[in-house]
Parts: sequence; structure tokens; C-alpha cells
Amino acid sequence: MASRGGGETRPNSATAAANKDFQFKLVLLGESAVGKSSLVLRFVKGLFHEYQESTIGAAYQNKTVSLDDVTVKFDIWDTAGQERYHSLAPMYYRGAQAAIIVYDITNVETFARAQNWVKELQRQANSKIVMALAGNKADMADKRAVEHQEAQAYADKNGLLFMETSAKTGLYIDDLFMAIASKLPKNDPEGGRTRAGVDLHETNRNRSTKCCNTLVCGSNSGSN
Ligand code: GTP
Ligand code: MG
Repeated sequence: MASRGGGETRPNSATAAANKDFQFKLVLLGESAVGKSSLVLRFVKGLFHEYQESTIGAAYQNKTVSLDDVTVKFDIWDTAGQERYHSLAPMYYRGAQAAIIVYDITNVETFARAQNWVKELQRQANSKIVMALAGNKADMADKRAVEHQEAQAYADKNGLLFMETSAKTGLYIDDLFMAIASKLPKNDPEGGRTRAGVDLHETNRNRSTKCCNTLVCGSNSGSN
């Protein structure tokens, strides 16, 4: 169940929250084909598909990771990047405690699109949302169009975690999720979903993979 991905930072609140299990809603946003689904597939199943199908609507996955004596369950909503699905996005980022905004380091337009997503989240998402920027396809550095330094400066200015990742090789994928897990608040006694993680001691632990409950839905939330 537990996965350690190299991010060994001990969260400040870990001691206070010893032996606690938390659940957080995380949403992935970004232009189509930047690798959102691939990033999730790598993190959840350790797999990569060269011909990953474009997501329809959104797809759901979950994974639990361990941080010392705290476990963090991510409820992951992988949204569809195609423009025609843009209006659905608020359903997925509303109430999310974490977001990964993905761009493709070989495509400068996807970086501009990522910045628009950041602005939208800053305006409309939970004010305490933990945001991470992922410059994906880092294995294609020979075709790089977005400089690491430029993206890092943008992330720093906007208070975002930032890593260049590769769903293909696995580079910094676990580290990204572990960094998010470390940053998420774990000391909110109310444990409200929109305020902090749900304490799983108080809720049902046995929720399994399911599809989204919207009109438009990924055909296979387990593989898409
Ligand atoms: P939508 O579902 O349409 O929003 O796209 P997406 O962002 O989910 O992208 P997806 O994961 O479907 O990946 C698009 C293509 O990029 C696929 O052919 C993947 O194999 C490829 N891809 C994804 N991540 C990487 C990566 O890190 N490196 C390389 N080289 N290719 C990648
Ligand atoms: Mg997808």
C-alpha cells in the first residue's frame, strides 16, 4: 500500500498527527497531451504507455503513500485537457486540497496554458490549495522549449512546488506527490474535505477505484 518516492521530508505536523491516516482530493490540470494521465499511471501503477488515450471528461484513481507514521490517501482526478472539456474543470478542482498543473517542456504554448490554469485556481479554487507545477517530458530535453530556470522563477513567484518530471522514465514522479503530501496540512482537527484532509479513522477506509459521477466520464478510469 505505502509508497516512498524519495521525498523524505518530514512534515512539521507529522508528530502531532502521529498514527493518522488522511485523505486528500488532488486534481490534475493542463493542456491536452502534456502527459497528465501518463503521470498518474506512472505514480499509481508504475506503468507508461507510448500510446496513451486522450482522456474523456475525467478519470479517477487513488493511491496511499506513507510519510513516517502518517498515511496520505490521494483521491486523484485526472481531467481532460481538450478545450471542449474546460467547462467541466471546476467540478474537479472545487474542494480539491491539491492540484498538479502540468505542461510539456518541449511546447511553450502548454506552459502558457499552465499559467492560465494557475490564475484560474488562484481566483476560484480553495484558497489553501497546494499547487504544484510539473514540467513533464523531461526525458525530451533535446527538444526543450521552456527553460527550467524560467519555470522555477514563475513557480517561486506564485508559491508553487515545481519539478520537471518524466512519466516515461519515472523521473521525479513519486517525489512530486511526496512533496505535495508533505506540504498538505495534517493538523486540522475538523478534517473537513474543503479545509484539510479527511481523517480516515473517522470515515470509510475502503473506497476503491471508481468512475466519476458526472455526465461525461472516462471510459476506463483504471487505465486512462
Ligand atoms: P489529455 O487526456 O488529452 O488531456 O492528455 P494527457 O495530458 O492526459 O496526456 P497523455 O498522458 O495522454 O499523454 C500524451 C502523450 O504523451 C502520450 O503519447 C504519452 O505516451 C506521451 N507522454 C506522456 N508523458 C510523457 C513523458 O514524460 N515523456 C514522453 N516522451 N512522452 C510522454
Ligand atoms: Mg489524459
